[in-house]
Amino acid sequence: MSEPFPAIDPDLNSIIAIFGRKGSGKSVFARELFRGWPAIDKLVIDPTGDADPSLPDQVELRGRLPEHLPAPKQRGGYVTARYVANPASESYRDDLDRAVALALFPKNRRTLLWIDEAGEVFPANRTGPHARTLLQQSRHWWTSAILCTPRPISIDPLVLSQADRVVMYDVPHPRDRERLAGSIGIEPRILNAELDATRARGPHWFLMFDAREHALYRCPPLRLSKGYKHAQQ
Ligand SMILES: Nc1ncnc2c1ncn2[C@@H]1O[C@H](COP(=O)(O)OP(=O)(O)O)[C@@H](O)[C@H]1O
Ligand SMILES: [Mg+2]
Repeated sequence: MSEPFPAIDPDLNSIIAIFGRKGSGKSVFARELFRGWPAIDKLVIDPTGDADPSLPDQVELRGRLPEHLPAPKQRGGYVTARYVANPASESYRDDLDRAVALALFPKNRRTLLWIDEAGEVFPANRTGPHARTLLQQSRHWWTSAILCTPRPISIDPLVLSQADRVVMYDVPHPRDRERLAGSIGIEPRILNAELDATRARGPHWFLMFDAREHALYRCPPLRLSKGYKHAQQ
């Protein structure tokens, strides 16, 4: 990704949280970042079945979860796995939380996790034990996470307080804006104006907050990689 924000260093463990109403571009952003992240084992937790990185040799996990991510096919290689949970299952919430454990254990295995409906895995006041561990100690577990959800207000506040980057597409609801502003420490009046100005630029524009620098960047629509449209068909 070459964009007008400081590059995301793939060697650091990061949490990247992406917000915005449906259709604003969250999954597209997450997918690009996930696909391009080098030299790491990868897991997608996809409650709805529409987050597909379409990487070569991707392993689909269904039904009973394995104890660990599968081993890479080649020595020195990396694996990509995708887990589509079944919302009709009685153990749905547990299944999702156990899927997070696949990205945590073994502790020193570097893993990138993409959760496309983070509200399902980190619901406010009901975050499971592994999901909580991920948020509180991602660095100790060598895990990076890309978390997408439309409504900041309905997820565990830890997602925002632990995020290294916060990507904000069109977030229309005032309460969501207040939550974002409060968590990242930008005056609500200023964030409001920035979000309005970003929306006015057109579809798929977004703001990127860098927590380390405490800086906000206005960014044009991500340039989609070649083959993106093809992959969507
Ligand atoms: N950077 C972009 N450039 C062009 N089209 C985009 C871009 N981002 C998103 N889109 C279009 O918008 C649609 C919805 O984006 P998506 O990421 O799936 O939304 P969300 O996950 O926020 O609901 C995509 O299928 C794509 O057609
Ligand atoms: Mg999406």
